[in-house]
This record gives sequence, structure tokens and C-alpha cells, in this order.
Amino acid sequence: MDLSNNAIGILDSGVGGFSVLLELRKKLPQSTIHYIGDSAWCPYGNKPAEQIQKRAFAVCEELIKMGANTIVVACNSATIHAVEALRARYPLTFVGMEPAVKPASKITRTGTIGVLATEASIAGEKFHQLVDTHIYPNDLKVITQPCPEFVTLVEEGTLSGPSVESAVAKYALPMVEAGADTLVLGCTHYPFLSPTIRKIVGDSVQLIDTGEAVARRTASLNPYHSGTGGISIHTTGNLACLERLFPILCPELSASLHNIDITT
Ligand code: SIN
Repeated sequence: MDLSNNAIGILDSGVGGFSVLLELRKKLPQSTIHYIGDSAWCPYGNKPAEQIQKRAFAVCEELIKMGANTIVVACNSATIHAVEALRARYPLTFVGMEPAVKPASKITRTGTIGVLATEASIAGEKFHQLVDTHIYPNDLKVITQPCPEFVTLVEEGTLSGPSVESAVAKYALPMVEAGADTLVLGCTHYPFLSPTIRKIVGDSVQLIDTGEAVARRTASLNPYHSGTGGISIHTTGNLACLERLFPILCPELSASLHNIDITT
């Protein structure tokens, strides 16, 4: 394991972690960043916990070989099922995602919060702990909704239009109709659909995601971080797909794009 380098690694099941990469680049413009999107195994959100953990370990091994000493687990499903095990195995800094249940509990006016996340995230022990800590003691109500089509849409680069609108109407609208005034975007893919979610649920509903907070935390742990400022993106999936998607999702960034084979 090479701990001599000081790059930042980002792990995701696919391209959703680009929503965190965009925030991180703003906070740490000089850092060298290596990103691995495990698109060959995407989505993680419908996979068993053991499989998510196995893939997270394998992807982290590669990020460490690339020189990462801080790894952002930019995937809620992987954070919920693997981040503690990663911290136990590697002497590195890991920053994970957390569905924004706590901030939502502070700003809801109706007392009902909707959480859009993957099946794996909603089923995880860590998610139940968040609800037990921030929802029930405050006499609030939470409605959860897995949104598998959201990940598929973002992975294919469809960020607006009729198919996104009908998926949003199916997943998010019933929560609002049931009284939710605050929706937690509990998956890093979902912020890319925010404009359509906003259009369908209306301006009075608050949308919260944690990408900016995670980037802030990563930057605070690396206050003097410097590097080449280069970004390399690696996909276990199809390189041509990545070459098409990266400019759509991150138009303001430039990066070198690569294939990587990671077997488990
Ligand atoms: C997925 O791969 O299903 C989405 C990743 C996430 O939970 O953020």
C-alpha cells in the first residue's frame, strides 16, 4: 500500500459521485483527484450488503494504489454498508455520505420529511439510527421511497424530459401529497435531477442533499492539500459511455478518462 501520495480518491457505483466531485473541486482546486465509478456493478442500491462491501473494498484498493490518502465514499449505499469496515481496514481518512435526515428535521414546518434513497440505503442499520435519533424523538414523521429509475436515468445521461418527469411524479409527488415539505436526496445521483424534481414538486418544497457538506468536510480535513490539480476518472464500465456522460454532467471540469478492470 503506497501512503506516500496525497491525492483524494472518490468512489461511487457510477457517475452519481460527480455531484460530489463538482463540489469538491470548488473547495480544493489544487488537489489531485482520482475517481472510480464502478459502473460495471451499478446500481449498488439493489445489491446485498456483502456485495456492496466487497466492491467498495476492491475499488478502494485501486484508489490507494493510485495514491489516495483520503477517500470520499460518494455513494450513500456504499457508505451505509461499507464505510465502517473500510475505516477498520485502512489507515486512511474516509469521508462518507449521510442522507440529510438531521438537517431536514431542523427545517421541516409540516413535521413530515420525505427521503428519496436506494433500497440498500433505506434498509441499512445506519439509516435506522438516523431516524431513531432525529425523527422519532422530535415527534416527526418520515416517508421513505426507493427510486431505482433515477439512477438508471442519470447513468444514461437523461437529466430532464418526459421520462424524468414521470419518474419524479411517481416517486416524489406522493410524499408531497402526504404532507412532506422537505425532501432528502439520499443518493449522489439524484442532485442531477434536482431541476425536474423542483419543477414537479413546486417551490414550497425544500430539497436537501449533502454533496456540499461532504466536500466542506473533506476540505476541512485537508486544509493544506495541494497537488497537480488534475482529475482522473476511471470506469469499470464502458469508456465510450463515460466519454459521452462526463461533459454532460460536469461541463465545467476537464479530466482524463480511463477504463479500469476491477475483479472481485
Ligand atoms: C446506486 O448505485 O444504486 C446509487 C448509489 C447511492 O446510493 O448513492
